[in-house]
Amino acid sequence: MKRILSGVQPTGNLHLGNYLGAIRNWVKLQDGYECLYMVADLHAITVPQEPDSLRKAVREVTAALIACGIDLEKSAIFNQSAVSAHSELAWILGCHTPLGWLNRMTQFKEKAGKHREEALLGLYSYPVLMAADILVYKATHVPVGEDQKQHLELSRDIAGAFNRQYNTEFFPLPEPLILGDATRVMSLRDGSKKMSKSDESDYSRINLTDDADAIAKKIKKATSDSYPTVGENLENRPEAANLLTLYASLKGVTREQALAECAGKNFSGLKQMLTEVAVAHLSPITRRMRELLAAPDYIDQVLSKGVARARNIAGGTMQEVKEMIGFL
Ligand code: TRP
Repeated sequence: MKRILSGVQPTGNLHLGNYLGAIRNWVKLQDGYECLYMVADLHAITVPQEPDSLRKAVREVTAALIACGIDLEKSAIFNQSAVSAHSELAWILGCHTPLGWLNRMTQFKEKAGKHREEALLGLYSYPVLMAADILVYKATHVPVGEDQKQHLELSRDIAGAFNRQYNTEFFPLPEPLILGDATRVMSLRDGSKKMSKSDESDYSRINLTDDADAIAKKIKKATSDSYPTVGENLENRPEAANLLTLYASLKGVTREQALAECAGKNFSGLKQMLTEVAVAHLSPITRRMRELLAAPDYIDQVLSKGVARARNIAGGTMQEVKEMIGFL
């Protein structure tokens, strides 16, 4: 059996980068795998969160997943904190994880920066929780972006350490799914930075709640350069390259095909083409997203259904784990 577990943190608005880079692939994976998709609220509190914003963000992410095409008949969407097995298994796995392994995690080093002494234990042990998220479902495959590859590697190491200690093959070693056509989406204001929910300028990103007018306006205002046509010297033109990538990705064509389509066009021509395809592709999603956000009770129902299914699987794993360890 092939089972997928993946997670997305509920922090602020989801945007086109999240959609093209991750969620769209999650939708496709539903055909070949049993899929469990988790809103990682336990991970979110590794940095301070305002309670009302956290509640809102969890519902927003859930709405986005539904609007983008996660099929609730097939897949589960659930909020991580409602399934206590994640925290429970994280403790147990922490007792099988040498500090040396955690000390290698580059994301912690980057986030903690120079203030290591003030960094929180939760931020440091976050990869152990991530291992628990995956292993508690005995997930075989995990779609992740580049930035989470090292954490997934660690999950495999932790699973191996547990299996060796109890002389079993209890936890399958989870395989990363780094999807070939996942698109790296850059800021509309600065082509060298990733599109990000934390960028101060809302013009840097297209949010999944933006309507057609907002999408058009943002693309129109996207940073341009002074080359006369789109095709020239793209390696040195991050903004033009980004718009072209977005166009190709939304239209479902290769970059070469996209380039051929805009041969001879100038920057504003490319922007026009992109606006059309972006509005056509995203409008049904953003509309559905706004409808869902107006129905929080429905969103909560979806989550409880997902939680029930997740608890059922996770509960079975925990029972076996406790027995292996020797808990009464
Ligand atoms: N850490 C991931 C992120 O920040 C989210 C996440 C939490 C996750 N648990 C996971 C992803 C388990 C894959 C599997 O993006």
